[in-house]
Amino acid sequence: MFIRRRRGWEIPESAVTPETAVLRRRAVLRGTAAGGLAGALAAGPARAWSLFDSTPAAPPAQLKPLSAPRNARYAAGRDLTPAEAVESYNNFYEFGESKSIADAAQALKVAPWTIELTGMVKVKRTIGLEDLLRQVSLEERVYRHRCVEAWAMTVPWIGFPLADLVKLAEPLGSATYLKFTTQADPKTMPGLHQPWYPWPYTEGLTLQEAMNELAFLSVGMYGKTMPPQDGAPIRVTVPWKYGFKSAKSIVRVEFTDQRPATFWESLQSTEYGFWANVNPAVPHPRWSQAEERLIGTNRMVPTQIWNGYGEFVAAMYADKTKERLFA
Ligand code: MTE
Repeated sequence: MFIRRRRGWEIPESAVTPETAVLRRRAVLRGTAAGGLAGALAAGPARAWSLFDSTPAAPPAQLKPLSAPRNARYAAGRDLTPAEAVESYNNFYEFGESKSIADAAQALKVAPWTIELTGMVKVKRTIGLEDLLRQVSLEERVYRHRCVEAWAMTVPWIGFPLADLVKLAEPLGSATYLKFTTQADPKTMPGLHQPWYPWPYTEGLTLQEAMNELAFLSVGMYGKTMPPQDGAPIRVTVPWKYGFKSAKSIVRVEFTDQRPATFWESLQSTEYGFWANVNPAVPHPRWSQAEERLIGTNRMVPTQIWNGYGEFVAAMYADKTKERLFA
């Protein structure tokens, strides 16, 4: 039987002030959010501990079967999270601030889809997703997925190494970072009308991180194409980092020699830094990261440094002793 002993300094997830309440309060304090003021005042109570259990299942999306051989090298060492749970408990702020955005996300137009490869590359160009997929081999990888909010899932993603896209893009020798920009369509994404967020959602990695064998571009999961709410048609998946680093529905990849300013870092750099590698020993300023709640069962399990992927990634950070690698 699983017995959880809560240490004195821990607070439950239910006691964590929701992200949105904190951000709105900050926007109000900055006096920048005319439209956000009402929202700030209306910010609700903390999310319930068992929110997933009361979340209605998403309607069936128009997903196509997609199969690929499983790569056994990345066994996750724990049970898969049920697909229904992964598809109905999401963070996708373009569609709203709650976890129940699956219905709203069905408005995402996923075809045709193109990705702009730009910045410090040999030739700037825009590539169609189908064209891109003809040039790579799909595989299935079961990865642990850990959100900074201390919940976690285990997901069988289908996709291809991010390194393959980097090679296709042919970056110049001077490029050291990738900046991902994601879809921002105000007609279908109601969240874009919330002016206190620095839209579009952007994220970034070093080129070295992007070339790491774990860095993945996912186009499906659970034997189907990617559900809109999980980042259709193509999203980043970097399992050793907190989930906000895994940008959904990417439309642009820019190669640069400047560390990109990213969505969450721009909002609150002290809480959501650029590196955001998982570490149970480095608490978020407002909650512990020592354990995580498995979506689907609500079981608490210990969090692992680098989300358990240290053998693949720790060496990349050996020379970055002055950086704030874990928050
Ligand atoms: N990408 C976009 N475009 N918009 C978002 O709001 N949320 C991030 C990340 N990628 C987000 C995003 C966060 S905070 C997390 S934890 C993961 O997506 C959640 O992925 P999931 O809903 O598939 O579990």
